[in-house]
Amino acid sequence: MTTTTGTTTTTGALGTARTRVEGREKVTGAARYSGDIPLPELAHGWLVLSTIARGRVRSVEADTVLAMPGVLAVLHHENAPRVSLDYMGMIGPPDPIIGVFQHDRVPFRGWPVALVVAERPEQAREAAEALVVQYDQESHDIDFFAGHPDVYTPGDSPFGAAETTKGDIEAELAAATFVVDAEYTTPEEHHNPMEPHAATARWDGGRLEVLDSNQGTTYVAGELAQIFSLDAESVRVRSEHVGGGFGSKTVRPHQVAAAMAATVLDRPVRVVMTRRQMFSTIGYRSPTAQRVRLGADASGRLRALDHRSECVTSTVHEFIERSATVGRVMYDAEAHHTSDRVVRLDVPTPTFMRAPGEAPGSFALECALDELAEASGIDPIALRVRNEPDRGPVSGLPFSSRNLVACYEEGARRFGWADRDPRPGLRREGRWLLGTGMAAASFHSGAGPSTAGVTAEADGTFTVRINAADIGTGARTGIALVAADGLAVDPDRVRVVMADSDLGPAMIAGGSMGMRSWAWAVSIAVRELRERLALGGDIPPEGITARSDTAEAIGALAQKERHSFGAQFAEVAVDVTSGEVRVRRMLGIFAAGRIVNPLTARNQLVGGMTWGISMALHEEAVRDRASGGHVGPDLAGYHFAANADVPLIEADWVDDPDPDDPVGIKGVGEIGIVGAAAAIANAVWHATGVRHRNLPIRPDRVL
Ligand code: MOS
Repeated sequence: MTTTTGTTTTTGALGTARTRVEGREKVTGAARYSGDIPLPELAHGWLVLSTIARGRVRSVEADTVLAMPGVLAVLHHENAPRVSLDYMGMIGPPDPIIGVFQHDRVPFRGWPVALVVAERPEQAREAAEALVVQYDQESHDIDFFAGHPDVYTPGDSPFGAAETTKGDIEAELAAATFVVDAEYTTPEEHHNPMEPHAATARWDGGRLEVLDSNQGTTYVAGELAQIFSLDAESVRVRSEHVGGGFGSKTVRPHQVAAAMAATVLDRPVRVVMTRRQMFSTIGYRSPTAQRVRLGADASGRLRALDHRSECVTSTVHEFIERSATVGRVMYDAEAHHTSDRVVRLDVPTPTFMRAPGEAPGSFALECALDELAEASGIDPIALRVRNEPDRGPVSGLPFSSRNLVACYEEGARRFGWADRDPRPGLRREGRWLLGTGMAAASFHSGAGPSTAGVTAEADGTFTVRINAADIGTGARTGIALVAADGLAVDPDRVRVVMADSDLGPAMIAGGSMGMRSWAWAVSIAVRELRERLALGGDIPPEGITARSDTAEAIGALAQKERHSFGAQFAEVAVDVTSGEVRVRRMLGIFAAGRIVNPLTARNQLVGGMTWGISMALHEEAVRDRASGGHVGPDLAGYHFAANADVPLIEADWVDDPDPDDPVGIKGVGEIGIVGAAAAIANAVWHATGVRHRNLPIRPDRVL
């Protein structure tokens, strides 16, 4: 349940709540997801994943299953087409898991070792499950813990420096009046989009065509072209409807396996992943072990901020969960140090998962701030306000806008923070201990180059063509609203054609940058179209089209600290008999740029906050040391917040248009999860007087 008052000003179409334009299609089942689209001659591939965590494939005993009903082929490292992973992709070099069946090495349990293709999916599945793969097994190491002897500092990347340092941490800590030194852990967590990953590949007139479920077809088509050594124009990827992504719907083994099989069999091949397969093939959020040391003077001003995080990557690819980066934006201190280190284990490579870095990082940092508030006797909000920086604490750059204090004020007013007794463990209602907590949030705001076309049709309607991805966020609707606002027409007169790599390059739905990037391109094409329409004259049958490309404008943006901000509040009840934590209410107030569609923006924020409940209380992937694989990799074994776990959540915002964005957007995709788990953990402390520094806050840990 969500409620709202809506504090944003409503101007034109922007700010008007609109249901999704494809909502009816989706709820009636008319919307076809990539695994649903019928095709003649379609064959079905089923992935076979390794059952050992390290070693080599000795043999794939394909003959037996080739004799099974309907089986067409078994692809594995000895017979699969060769592909190339020697390229730099849009989000870095490729994770070798996508170059399926190229060698006999097995770097973790759940590594794809074969694809069984059959006439029907049931036949493919039965044969895949019957396929005998022999291995030469080697010993593996999957144990992540703080201070692992093999932990190392990675190189810097476009996603951030591994380490930043300013001043003398030890000296400032020694001179501080109040000191917090605490260690926090977050477990391995998994994306579980409702729609599993699914791709259908076919050759059509010399082009590789892929019907897929992904976060951006420009990106997926570009990578597939590289992998199969094809011209960019020879690959077309479409992704009309997507049932969630969260960072996982990128290039994954299934698209490559489907394209290989389509090539070998010369007919369309579909590969759909199962939920269990997704646990080892689509990436996940690394577990983290974090240490935060804070030192403050008598007034609560930070003298030292030291945030060190360790995470996991695989032996075949490096991905860093940049948990320590959040303090580079949030708080300044005389001495300031942040570092992200990593250890290679025999596990799959983690990847981007909603608010990568900020989600686990804000848990540690914002809990540590709460501990400092306790130690200093300063109110948690007052402490944060006292430490508001006027420039980027590490970069020294100005903020494009930073309306965090407005979030605190509005949030405190609506949550009733002023009435709070800060002492812990005092409020009891039957067997429940009650408490409240808060935390701050930030997530970077950016834009990626995009192209768009907007056509004034002869019938008085308008068509927007942009290769955007609607991963369930309502992007299609938002784009229609942005175009309608610019054209000053009713949104019903605007249709949006998207999610097709043939439309030209555009930003992915990722990094909370989708809507901002696409709206930028659409707004420029709309402006140009209006200028042409203002010249008058009839619209020809093919319409009048204006196009845009934002690459230059985005490249020319001045360097600034660009972020969304937010204040999270939670009230919890803790059952002293069972250790169960129930979240009773949550409130998030965000400064997240101009809001395009209050309805779908609120969906994003509430969705993120819901995930914060999940992160705080439920989610935890458990690995079995003996097998190296997961225990219960499905929605029964991996519990995330269900309806019964989720109380009243309110999400709202303060006015915060981005001054450098043509539409004023910052992005709302990820900030909702940031700080949410910390607010809950801080509320649990307030209820019980006990700090819980290891997520999730399970009943057995509370008791
Ligand atoms: Mo998001 S983790 O950038 O899809």
